[in-house]
Amino acid sequence: MIKLEGLSKIFPGHTIPAVKDLNLEVKEGDVCVLVGPSGCGKTTTMKMINRLYEPTGGKIYIRGEEALKMDPIKLRLDIGYVIQEIGLFPHMTIEENVATVPNEKHWPADQVKQKVDEVMTLVGLDPNVFKSRYPSALSGGQRQRVGVARAMVSDPPIMLMDEPFGAVDPITRARLQNEFLRIQERMGKTIVFVTHDIDEAIKMSDTIAVMREGELIQHATPSDLLSAPADEFVSNLVGRNRSIKRLHLIRINEILEDVNRAKPISEDAQTEEIKKQLDQSDIRTVIVVDRNNKLKGIIGVNDLKRTTGEVAKDYCQDVSDTVTSDATLNDALSVMLELGEGYVAVVNEDDQYEGTITLGDLLNVVKEDN
Ligand SMILES: Nc1ncnc2c1ncn2[C@@H]1O[C@H](COP(=O)(O)OP(=O)(O)OP(=O)(O)O)[C@@H](O)[C@H]1O
Ligand SMILES: [Mg+2]
Repeated sequence: MIKLEGLSKIFPGHTIPAVKDLNLEVKEGDVCVLVGPSGCGKTTTMKMINRLYEPTGGKIYIRGEEALKMDPIKLRLDIGYVIQEIGLFPHMTIEENVATVPNEKHWPADQVKQKVDEVMTLVGLDPNVFKSRYPSALSGGQRQRVGVARAMVSDPPIMLMDEPFGAVDPITRARLQNEFLRIQERMGKTIVFVTHDIDEAIKMSDTIAVMREGELIQHATPSDLLSAPADEFVSNLVGRNRSIKRLHLIRINEILEDVNRAKPISEDAQTEEIKKQLDQSDIRTVIVVDRNNKLKGIIGVNDLKRTTGEVAKDYCQDVSDTVTSDATLNDALSVMLELGEGYVAVVNEDDQYEGTITLGDLLNVVKEDN
């Protein structure tokens, strides 16, 4: 969808290129996050893609077509741009700001109105409250969200987002990130996204492009970046907790089949059978299920010693927390720490038992990385 080929930019009067021989490909529907120190050329790269800056060398292809040969005004109508400095028009109301592109595209007025309301609500700004205000009457974070709404309103297939959530508090930020991911799952836009927050990059991206001093150092999936950073610069950038971060990226269903040894036992199982099963269990616990394979409880070695009951359901203990298989390994770890246990039961939405993940399984995943 976007292909940069040997792209360079030397600003007039400069000798050192701001961007140097950059080769980068972003597939349709992917989110590519640019990260790197301040001044490394992220914004310059974005501005060349929508031709606010003319490259001094190299080529840009949009859907296979050479962007440098296209009409820049037309090109920009297909590319939503959230600029780093927000860039709202101060003399226009929020409504007029958000409606800029639809108005340039001559949409019917009622359609514009409806769409403006829709995207403002999406970014958490009540249209009735904010529409008629001027940018100066908004906080920095609110202005930033207007910027996001403005870029999204005409539904462009490509979005360039330069630190779109930089000026909002962590809670609003997490909400906007989740909202963004939800919308992106539905819309499948091709997005180039800049952030200084490596955790945000890992969370939001299909691929991460690490830049330094105008050059691309590594372009990889977040998982590959964490497990195989190209050099010390990248490894410092992703930080010390690479293994923990990787647990955020792997879902339980990706490893459950390989690790699943703990067979559940029926709620009607006799004590003898439970004993035998306990001896074989490496978590010193057996999982008890009912006839419909719903999780009924657990029985540990001590429960068995103390009980006078005859079958499993007489003395199995409630399980206070479980995870579903679409949760991440980090979610599983959180529950284990919360419960103070070395394992957690995995169930589906109907509470049916699907398997068990142990602390050892997580250690194995982390070990594979190192
Ligand atoms: N219009 C310009 N004229 C001259 N030099 C510029 C211009 N815009 C940017 N530069 C220089 O080009 C380099 C790259 O700047 P750019 O804005 O792309 O960095 P960035 O990676 O976006 O940084 P930040 O994370 O701080 O936003 C910097 O050294 C900057 O000073
Ligand atoms: Mg920048």
